[in-house]
Amino acid sequence: MSYPIIEVNNVSFKYGDQVVLENIQLEINKGDFLGLVGPNGSGKSTLLKIILGLIQPTSGEVRMFGKPISKFNQWSKVGYVSQKANSFNRGFPASVEEIVETGLYGELGIFKRVGQKEKERVKMALEQVGLSDLGSRNIAKLSGGQQQRAFIARAIVSNPEIIILDEPTVGVDTESVKQFYQLMGQLNEKLGLTIVLVSHDIGTITEKVTKLACLNKKLFCHGSPKEMEDPQKTFEKTFGEDINMVTHHHH
Ligand SMILES: Nc1ncnc2c1ncn2[C@@H]1O[C@H](COP(=O)(O)OP(=O)(O)O)[C@@H](O)[C@H]1O
Ligand SMILES: [Mg+2]
Repeated sequence: MSYPIIEVNNVSFKYGDQVVLENIQLEINKGDFLGLVGPNGSGKSTLLKIILGLIQPTSGEVRMFGKPISKFNQWSKVGYVSQKANSFNRGFPASVEEIVETGLYGELGIFKRVGQKEKERVKMALEQVGLSDLGSRNIAKLSGGQQQRAFIARAIVSNPEIIILDEPTVGVDTESVKQFYQLMGQLNEKLGLTIVLVSHDIGTITEKVTKLACLNKKLFCHGSPKEMEDPQKTFEKTFGEDINMVTHHHH
C-alpha cells in the first residue's frame, strides 16, 4: 500500500534577499524512486536540508510520515547520504564495518555497545551493497565507487523506509555510476525502499527512476518520466537551452 512519506506544502526559502525556492509542492510516496534534477545552484541541496529539518522554510511546511517536521523524531526511518560523504583523506582510520556501524548510533545511543545482533545487521547491509569481502578493509583504501557503496550500506543498516542521496555520483567513474543505478533499482524493487536521488546527471537518471521532479527555484515538472510528453523539452524549459552545459559541466 502506498502512502505519503514526505509532503512538501507550498515551501519557499530565502537566503537574505535571495529567493532560493518558490512555492514548492511535492509528495513522495512509499515505494517511489524519485529523481530530483536541476542545474548547479537551483536549490536542490537547500530543499533536502528543509526536508531533513536542518533549516526552516521561510514559508510553507514539510511533513514526514504525516507529522510536521518539527515534531518528527523517528529519524532511524530516514537514511541520508550527504553530498560530500565519500571524500576522505588517506589516513582516515576506520574500517568499512566501523563506518557502517555508525549508521546504528541513532538507534543505540552513544553509550550502548555494538553487540552480536548489530554486527549481523552490518554484515547484511554490506551484503546488500556487494561489499561482503571488504568489511575489515580501511575505508580510505577503497575506490570511489566502493566508498560510495559503503555509505549506502551505512544509510540502510538501520532499516529505513526512505533514503535520501545528494549528488552521489559526482566524481565516480562511469562503470561505478552504472552499478550504482543498478543497486538503487534493486533496493527499490526488492526491499521496497523509497529513494530520493538528487542529481544534475539528467541522461541516466531519466531511465531509472519512477518519478522525476525538475527544480530550478520553482518545480517545473513532477511525475512519471514515461507520462511526460517530452522530458527533453521540459529540461530545456527548466534549465535554459544549453543542456550540455548542465549535463557535462562538473565542478
Ligand atoms: N549557506 C548559504 N548562504 C547563502 N546562500 C546560499 C547558502 N547555501 C546555498 N546558497 C545559495 O542558494 C542557492 C541554491 O543552492 P543549493 O541549494 O546548494 O543548490 P544546488 O544543490 O541545486 O546546487 C545558490 O544560489 C547558492 O549560492
Ligand atoms: Mg547541491
